Amino acid sequence: MAESMSGFTRSYRCTEVVNAQIGESVVLMGWVNKRRNLGSLIFVDLRDRTGLVQLLFDENNIGTEGYEKAATLRNEFVIAVRGLVQRREGAVNENLETGEIEIKVLELRILSESLTPPFPIEEDSQTRDELRLKYRYLDLRRPDIQKNIILRSKVAQSVRNFMSSEGFIEIETPMLCKSTPEGARDYLVPSRVHPGSFYALPQSPQIFKQLLMCAGYDRYYQIARCFRDEDLRADRQPEFTQIDMEFSFANAETVMETNERLIAHVFKEILDIDVELPLQRMTWQEAMDRYGSDKPDTRFGMELTDITECVKDCDFSVFSGPANQEGSSVRGICAKGMASMPRKKIDALVEFVKGIGAKGLAYLAINEDGTYKSSFAKFMKEEELAEICKEMGAEKGDMMFFASDTDKNVYAVLGALRLELGAQMGLIDENKFNFLWVTEFPLLEYSEEQERWVAMHHPFTMPLESDICYLDTEPWKARAAAYDIVLNGVELGGGSERIYNPEIQEKMFAALGFTQEEAYERFGFLLDAFKYGVPPHAGLAYGFDRMMMLMTKAESIRDVIAFPKVKDASCLMTGAPGMVDDKQLEELEIKLALVEK
Ligand code: AMO
Ligand code: AMP
Repeated sequence: MAESMSGFTRSYRCTEVVNAQIGESVVLMGWVNKRRNLGSLIFVDLRDRTGLVQLLFDENNIGTEGYEKAATLRNEFVIAVRGLVQRREGAVNENLETGEIEIKVLELRILSESLTPPFPIEEDSQTRDELRLKYRYLDLRRPDIQKNIILRSKVAQSVRNFMSSEGFIEIETPMLCKSTPEGARDYLVPSRVHPGSFYALPQSPQIFKQLLMCAGYDRYYQIARCFRDEDLRADRQPEFTQIDMEFSFANAETVMETNERLIAHVFKEILDIDVELPLQRMTWQEAMDRYGSDKPDTRFGMELTDITECVKDCDFSVFSGPANQEGSSVRGICAKGMASMPRKKIDALVEFVKGIGAKGLAYLAINEDGTYKSSFAKFMKEEELAEICKEMGAEKGDMMFFASDTDKNVYAVLGALRLELGAQMGLIDENKFNFLWVTEFPLLEYSEEQERWVAMHHPFTMPLESDICYLDTEPWKARAAAYDIVLNGVELGGGSERIYNPEIQEKMFAALGFTQEEAYERFGFLLDAFKYGVPPHAGLAYGFDRMMMLMTKAESIRDVIAFPKVKDASCLMTGAPGMVDDKQLEELEIKLALVEK
């Protein structure tokens, strides 16, 4: 039977009881983490979000009835106790904050009982994810998850303090919106009042924050929920949170400078880590050429080398073909000291890159005796091989891998292979936080799916001033005044200077293949707003969940979100998404005609 709390007022959280309170009478409440029955004594570890404290039940103090009640305690019962803080009679527990003291219990109340939980509430639980997420409220009791969730709140607070001190105003923007142009699929919400019409949940507050600049708010920020119906990965959720901001009368330089200080502030305050400023910067082209990625992990080297020139005239057509083609190349990476890599491992790497779309993976190892082991050496002259090794900086004992294809594929294959090898070879220092700005992104990228050029960031991204001239004739050559902030190979955030000049905006729409009417239909209100005095503006948004994932070194984005979704975008605890009843559909004037797949 559940007892009442009345007359009991909690005096401390579990780990707030320290040596200074020895001799004090206290009331504590929490969950039974563990009970040990030693015959004449019962020990209980009491748990709350701060940690554990030991309770001692001794029949001489609590009486027979109280002692018998204590004997009925099971894990996860919620109890309240009144007792005296005393120095531990038994051994001190070095692992506990409260390891030197215990509570000699004088009165016990069982506030709630608990079923046996489906998995132990403990750190580093080995429980499978499905079960953890189905009982998320129990999973959230685990100390390691609680640590993440509490840290997340501290980071949000730290961000708010910084933004506020820099003159940013926190403003909420709507959740029921018109489609935003971030390029992912929208989540739609049917309107009851306008049958057949739908709201879109925001993919980001992009348009509203630009309108706030038009409206004169000068500096805006928001910790904003965003929705994107995309395929989930380890660092993606269908609903996620951005730390979103926009600056008036500012360019990329101001945005980057302010954000470097924001990062340094948060990392110092939360993790006591000194981030060295200014952060490294690299153009998109350099990032691709050196790392095969627009979000390079710079914690280790193993950079790409372009050997196109060395193989233009060789007899190995896999190389010489692309080497002589515009927009294609042959590049390699050198795995130091890996020449003796067994055949099986090489084959596994070939399979790995094929998964990324590689046609093959050529390798060349220099054995310790100076001979070669290679998949293509037989097609090459000795001096050609020597030339490649020289270009690659390879020495005896090294292993090289090569990809030959369009630049785009070569970057993708070697970028992924580099990360895989870096991990396999233990080159990645997990204690490092390597920040990097990637700048000068291409303005457009070709979408195979839509068979047209699309904005790489969004259609309001300003081209670099020097590249505006390309917009009319060769828009794919234009680079954007856009920047991403990358941390340890993860895209932490991104932003850009925005177009505020109607002529440039018109050219941009034309380059994207929108007619003026189509552009108006989608973003007319923004274009209209820009006619009434728009300040130059620029902004940026971080993925807050990703930031937390990196700060806590969590393996999955789910470990830093209280109630995350799983891979198929469902919630295992509530069962969302679910069917709705006929009446709800009727009100929306929606009839389901599900098509069988
Ligand atoms: P962008 O689309 O780059 O920019 O998004 C900003 C950051 O949000 C994070 N992010 C995600 N995190 C978790 N799950 C997802 N599905 C997901 N999608 C994106 C990433 C990303 O860097 N409006 C622009 C910003 C601007 O220009 O100011 C925008 O949304 O960390
Ligand atoms: P093949 O002549 O097709 O047997 O290829 C010889 C070697 O080149 C094999 O090791 C292949 O994996 C490799 N190879 C094939 N296509 C490519 C490519 N596009 N880039 C790099 N290596 C390749």
